Amino acid sequence: MTLLTDQFFDSFASSIADTLEADTLPPACYTDEEFFQFERQAIFYREWLCVGRVEWLEKPGDFFTATHAGEPIIVAMDRDGEINALSAVCQHRAMLVAEGSGNTRAFVCPYHHWTYDLNGALVGAPAMNRTCDFDKASASLPRLKLETWHGFVFINFDPVAAPLTPRLAGIEDVVAHYDFTSARGPRPDAPPSLPWNWKVMFENNNDGYHANRLHAGPLHDIVPSSLASFPELPTETAGYYRLNGSLHADASFNATQKAVFPVFPALTEEERNRLLFVNLPPSLSLVVMADMVIYMILYAEGAGHHSMTTGILLHPEAMADPLYEHKMRMNLDAVTEIVAQDMHVDLLVQQGLKSKFAPRGRYSWQEGAQRQFNMWLVERYWGERDRQRGPSAPVTQIRRSNTA
Ligand code: FES
Ligand SMILES: [Fe+2]
Repeated sequence: MTLLTDQFFDSFASSIADTLEADTLPPACYTDEEFFQFERQAIFYREWLCVGRVEWLEKPGDFFTATHAGEPIIVAMDRDGEINALSAVCQHRAMLVAEGSGNTRAFVCPYHHWTYDLNGALVGAPAMNRTCDFDKASASLPRLKLETWHGFVFINFDPVAAPLTPRLAGIEDVVAHYDFTSARGPRPDAPPSLPWNWKVMFENNNDGYHANRLHAGPLHDIVPSSLASFPELPTETAGYYRLNGSLHADASFNATQKAVFPVFPALTEEERNRLLFVNLPPSLSLVVMADMVIYMILYAEGAGHHSMTTGILLHPEAMADPLYEHKMRMNLDAVTEIVAQDMHVDLLVQQGLKSKFAPRGRYSWQEGAQRQFNMWLVERYWGERDRQRGPSAPVTQIRRSNTA
């Protein structure tokens, strides 16, 4: 029996009511494989997905790989210094032509040595000269749309997707002074696979309510949940943010409770007295302090699994400081402790969501960002449901007017 009934989709309406009236999404949205397959169509094949940072590619031939919703992706710098995104799936018999990251002259498929240049064009296909009507030109690696936003690289599987950056206009002012484009940090490790739904992780990154509860203690109490705020953004926004006031200027997660790296130089007094949390669903979350940006790139894998890259950005000169390693260790000590608390909760939330007693819960005012995320999701869920049903069923309009 399918989960995907009209009644199920209609029930999302209560998740986009005002925060104080809203319910959480149905638990099956986090646990059901059929729903994850629906999300591939509704979200992952349509939306802009973060794959990494521009500075991971420094010279022609540099490449890295990523996988979103099971789709293997290559991001590579070509001979002209342009960055391209390609499907990594060989157009012969579907072997992946690249793994990990590195520098290469071309992508040679290990299986039968079909060879693709850095733009994905098939330039060599051994012993294919007798094959009838074989057209090398039509067997290139599929090209994906690519866009960058403040040094973050995004791809889109939809060849007619609307550009990302115009729909991020509502958050430009609040991020401008941090200058993410020129910030630098250590290259993160390969993302570990985590056994919970990507939305459980995203909501955890998105959640100010738990800040001084789950993380109660001197490392985190400097940003109390009572100082959370959730600015209204245009309804069409592709990303949003929340703010959380801090108890002192330049609050940062380490044993001194203050920035130990250089503070981003353009910040105002107001910006130095708060933390900024930026979310670009479904794949990028930023925790922004006065001296450090923690970025988390989420790669959905299935209903119960995703993987996540966690990276750090600092003032462009911070890594040249002779004390850099020591200072970084201070931060990592604190952040590791905080993240372990989050991950323990995420693991058990996934278990709870599978229970027959899993609720459609209610929200505190401190969870305004969860409702923002629901708005983003439900619009896409309903949009895809209507596309699948065809043009004769304009139910989204009816639902919207019911919830207005
Ligand atoms: S599968 Fe790639 S060359 Fe055969
Ligand atoms: Fe947390």
